Parts: sequence; C-alpha cells; structure tokens
Amino acid sequence: MSRSFPRERSRERELMDSFSSDPDRLKRTLDQFYVVNLLLTRARGLLERWFISDMARDKSLAYTLLDLGSGGGDLAVWLTRRARKLGVKLHIVCLDHDPRVTAYARERCRAFPEIEVVQGRALYLSSLPSFDYVFANHFLHHLADEEIVGVIETIGARTRRRFLVSDLKRSRPAYFAYSVFAAIFLRNSFSFEDGRLSIRKGFTKAELEEIVALSRLRDRVTLRSMFPFRVVILGADARHRA
Ligand SMILES: C[S@@+](CC[C@H](N)C(=O)[O-])C[C@H]1O[C@@H](n2cnc3c(N)ncnc32)[C@H](O)[C@@H]1O
Repeated sequence: MSRSFPRERSRERELMDSFSSDPDRLKRTLDQFYVVNLLLTRARGLLERWFISDMARDKSLAYTLLDLGSGGGDLAVWLTRRARKLGVKLHIVCLDHDPRVTAYARERCRAFPEIEVVQGRALYLSSLPSFDYVFANHFLHHLADEEIVGVIETIGARTRRRFLVSDLKRSRPAYFAYSVFAAIFLRNSFSFEDGRLSIRKGFTKAELEEIVALSRLRDRVTLRSMFPFRVVILGADARHRA
C-alpha cells in the first residue's frame, strides 16, 4: 500500500479559495487557524528555532519578515510578542490575496503597529523589497502546479537571511487523524472540508525534493519531514546557515 494518500496530489480548489464563500464560516475558519497553529503545525517551534534564534544573535539590528499567505495573522501576532519580549526589533508584512482575509487580519493585528497587512497575490512578491526572513505556512499547496517552482524561487530571491516553507505531508494517517480532530473541535467552518482536502493536496518529501531540484535554489535549501505530518523547506543565504 502506498503511504501517500491519495497517490497523486489533488488539484481541487478549497472552499476558502473562493472569494464568495460564506463569510461567517470563513471568519470561524480564520479563528480556528489559531488552534490549528497552536496544536498541529509546529509553526511556533519552527519560527523560534529558524528565525527568532537568528534574530536574537544580534539585537542591535532591525529585522523584516514576510508572512506569505498569512491568513488570520495569528502567527504574526505571536512573532511580534516574542520579538518584543526578547527586545528584538521586527517589522512584519502579512501578504494574502483574499480581501476578506486581509480585513480580518488587519483587525486582529490592530494593536501591533509592527505588523502591516497587505493584500496581493504571491506573485506580487517579486515587486516587493527584500526581507530578512520569509515564512509561508500551509500556503504552497494552494498554488497551481505551474506556479510552485517560480514562487519558491521568488521567495529565495527576496530573502536576505532565511526562509521557511512548511506544508502538509500527504498521508493516510494524517488524513484520518485530522478528520477525527476536526470533526470534534473545528465545527461550523471550512476547517473540516478544507483541512482534509489540504492533506490530499499536500506533498510527499520526494515530491518536494523534485520541486526544489527544478529550482535555482537547490544549493541553498534543506528539506525535512517532521512529526506530525509536515514537510518543510528551510533556506538560508550562505552567511546565515545554521
Ligand atoms: C491555509 S491558509 C494558511 C494561513 C496561515 N499561513 C496559517 O498558517 O494560519 C492559506 C492562505 O493563503 C492565502 N492564499 C492562497 N493562495 C494565495 C496566493 N496565490 N497569493 C496570496 N495568498 C494566497 C489564502 O487566502 C489563505 O489565507
């Protein structure tokens, strides 16, 4: 039996990818990203180890970070609180293409002047300035196949220090474990349907290896599989490797 499930990635669109999807269910989905990121994605640990530890080495500098496909902005808020606590100067740009999502994120980030929420598609990144750090969590699987290599190359080209792209590993155990979790805890939103579809749209490590090999970044990145059901691309400029 193949360990990836399904054997081929799904190319279906998620409910939240329609800009006319139900606004109440979308809002609850964005509320629930906080829970998903707290309990399931290991995003905070990855950000701590790969970005915050690097920033903390030199607190005299002012750093910039892009959160690409930023959703509700909960990770930007967490990063800002961490940076404040450590005395690190950090400006964050949250970029997302859905105007309803950016409106939600602006409201959520209102008390944090360090966070700027910008509406735009990922390809808009090529017209933005460079950032010290670029982060994309659960974003890559939303792209069309023909966009993926170009967006990863653009992320690399716009990163001065380090980038981190974390996504879902397509696997049967992930699918069944998430189905049970979401049916119990993530109700009245798109989280059940979209989360399950996201896992079917996720990647195996071998697929990500192929994608990276096609890009100009292959010498700058490391790929990792992590529990629970994550595949992660870590990239660094030659002077800022771990
Ligand atoms: C599954 S959500 C993840 C949100 C956030 N990164 C998190 O971890 O909570 C994916 C986000 O990417 C955004 N998105 C999808 N395709 C995009 C694109 N081509 N350009 C910019 N944002 C996009 C969606 O609007 C959505 O908010």
